[in-house]
Amino acid sequence: MFAPLQNDTFLRALRRQPTDHTPVWLMRQAGRYLPEYCATRAKAGSFMGLATNVDYATEVTLQPLERYPLDAAILFSDILTVPDAMGLGLSFAVGEGPKFAKVVRDEAAVAELAVPDMDKLRYVFDAVTSIRKALNGRVPLIGFSGSPWTLACYMVEGGGSDDYRRVKSLMYSRPDLMHRILAINADSVAAYLNAQIEAGAQAVMIFDSWGGVLADGAFQEFSLAYTRRVLAQLQREHDGVQIPRIVFTKGGGIWLDEIAELDTDGIGLDWTMDLGKARARVGHKVALQGNLDPNVLFAGPAQIEAEVRRVLDRFGAHPGHIFNLGHGISQYTPPEAVTVLVETVHRHSRAMRVA
Ligand code: CP3
Repeated sequence: MFAPLQNDTFLRALRRQPTDHTPVWLMRQAGRYLPEYCATRAKAGSFMGLATNVDYATEVTLQPLERYPLDAAILFSDILTVPDAMGLGLSFAVGEGPKFAKVVRDEAAVAELAVPDMDKLRYVFDAVTSIRKALNGRVPLIGFSGSPWTLACYMVEGGGSDDYRRVKSLMYSRPDLMHRILAINADSVAAYLNAQIEAGAQAVMIFDSWGGVLADGAFQEFSLAYTRRVLAQLQREHDGVQIPRIVFTKGGGIWLDEIAELDTDGIGLDWTMDLGKARARVGHKVALQGNLDPNVLFAGPAQIEAEVRRVLDRFGAHPGHIFNLGHGISQYTPPEAVTVLVETVHRHSRAMRVA
């Protein structure tokens, strides 16, 4: 049904197999730092207008690949489509970030929550199939979802937060309600990712963007346990091909050993971790993805090159590294900075393998 894959470097690195260069892709690689993205978004009218239209979602997913020789594509969508399908009413006001019309803060709201009908998310699965066709085998397509905990943060707070006061209040005062939300989120996320796999996603990534705001102990109980519950339900292969998983916990470096115990092929790391030390701790067990500080891209080409080389050198010339930023690319990034990043990753990682 789909064209054979021409560049499998990303999938090979996830399997810890040798590659001739280190594969690279960037979190939020399709986004507002690209003028062509802003043009399509203006046509679509809103972020959700983009995400729910299969042709627009396909177009913007491919935009960064037209500019840069990236080694993977990521579905253009958002983690918050899942709570939206639960009936919470997602919107993105310009310059303000996500907002939910309904919030989940009390027993009555929790009682109403349920795993959504996956038909409400049909537009996402249609986009996956459309993107996979449009890629025509150039690079693999990554599907994704938020972690149960990270989704709960938005569902309880009603949007972004600086202090996670409401979600942590609920967690500490009514852990029973929090566990109920997380169980529903985990089962929803598992169904959502499995449907993306069925539609053509060749790897899946779980974004635990706010796992790192939790106290030690709370992280294991309220984030890690539910990421594990998602992973346990994911289909391992599709059409006889293995579907690798990546778990990214921002601020999760301190729990690396526990995260590495998950049934995952790769772990995403933010910039606070040294990749050499991380690799020494997890060995060959999992691939590591990361971890350049996105703000490096505001420096000049020489500094970008030096910092990219440093990340590659810290990991070393072993199989199992996927180059990425430590978090999403900033909307203020000059597009030329990404050219320098991608070229340096490819050139320097090839040279490392020859040396
Ligand atoms: O990486 C990609 O190119 C794929 C697309 C993608 C988006 N969001 C598109 C998007 C992915 C993988 C996400 C994940 C996501 N969304 C996360 C996890 C990753 C992370 O950054 O920690 C989170 C926490 C969200 C929730 C979310 N969506 C926020 C907080 C915002 C607003 C922040 C901002 O930059 O304005 C969004 C909106 C959003 N999602 C944009 C994009 C390109 C920008 C909005 C726009 O175009 O108006």
